[in-house]
Amino acid sequence: MIQEQLIETVLLRLADGLPHSLADINADDLACALQQLDAWGLQPSQDEYSRYSIVRRLNLLDQAAINRTLFQHKLQNTQQDTQQGSVLVSRSLDSTNEFLLTQKDLPSGTICTTEMQTAGRGRRGRQWHSPFAQNLYFSLLWHFQTQPEKLKALSLVVGICVADTLTELGVENIRLKWPNDIYLNGRKLGGILIESRIFNQQSQQMVIGIGLNLAMQPSDAEQISQPWANLNESAVKIERNQLVATLASRLQQALQQLEQCNSSHYLQRWQQYDYFYQQPIKLLLEQEEIHGICCGIDTDSGELLLKTEDGRIHHFNIGEISVRALHNQKI
Ligand code: BTN
Repeated sequence: MIQEQLIETVLLRLADGLPHSLADINADDLACALQQLDAWGLQPSQDEYSRYSIVRRLNLLDQAAINRTLFQHKLQNTQQDTQQGSVLVSRSLDSTNEFLLTQKDLPSGTICTTEMQTAGRGRRGRQWHSPFAQNLYFSLLWHFQTQPEKLKALSLVVGICVADTLTELGVENIRLKWPNDIYLNGRKLGGILIESRIFNQQSQQMVIGIGLNLAMQPSDAEQISQPWANLNESAVKIERNQLVATLASRLQQALQQLEQCNSSHYLQRWQQYDYFYQQPIKLLLEQEEIHGICCGIDTDSGELLLKTEDGRIHHFNIGEISVRALHNQKI
């Protein structure tokens, strides 16, 4: 058996978290496979009966199961020509965004997801912490045949799709923090990073990356500097493969609609998820800080609306600005 298949076999056999005798596997091969599992943070160990187990039970990603569910979604979908790419599952990658940006000739709609990222990227050049089999690391490639103007609010549409997907699966209290953050119980649950490398007037190839914390172990998240949440804090149990397929299906439909019409159909629903709506906030611009009340977004452009002390409403573009709560201050 080649090494990669052997690692997969050992991983699948130990994924239930219970002890297993792996006596049928050649000792050298087994040692290599266990070394890889150890590098993935699964801490394989041996008990007094020479049985092996890993640190916890895993709900592993299953490429065939995800694609079957995605196909069923397509059959149920009333839209005639839903563009579909299939889902590629990997055990470890540098970054799912990087993978889709660098692979040639992948069809529009292709999705890549992995158990672990060794160089996961966040916004503003930050690292996105990506331990093995605990979270969701998801990227979708789309070849847009539309005017760049229509894509201004793309990340907001993606956020609404994520919030809709989680709500459909039974999660309550999902909120969106303009422009790109997904919140649960007042803490960051996930984020969106959209990247594009090839650009011409006819077609823009974009990669939409989504990271969501599902069951991240606090010991694996020590480097994260802001308050964060896990999806498993909610009352419903989320199956990762179902989550990938549902999210993939919703996003593919939304992007198709965005190309055919525009984003305002989606943006009109931003308010139902808006974390800061009617709250005092401060905007951190490059040189200054502006305080005001968040009045939602402009549903044509996706711009943030801020009411300042003098009663004026200001529009802010999706760019390099940060939004923060403004506690204990009267505006
Ligand atoms: C943020 O900083 O809030 C955005 C985080 C986006 C992380 C996701 S995980 C899947 C995809 N691949 C990456 O390298 N980054 C995005």
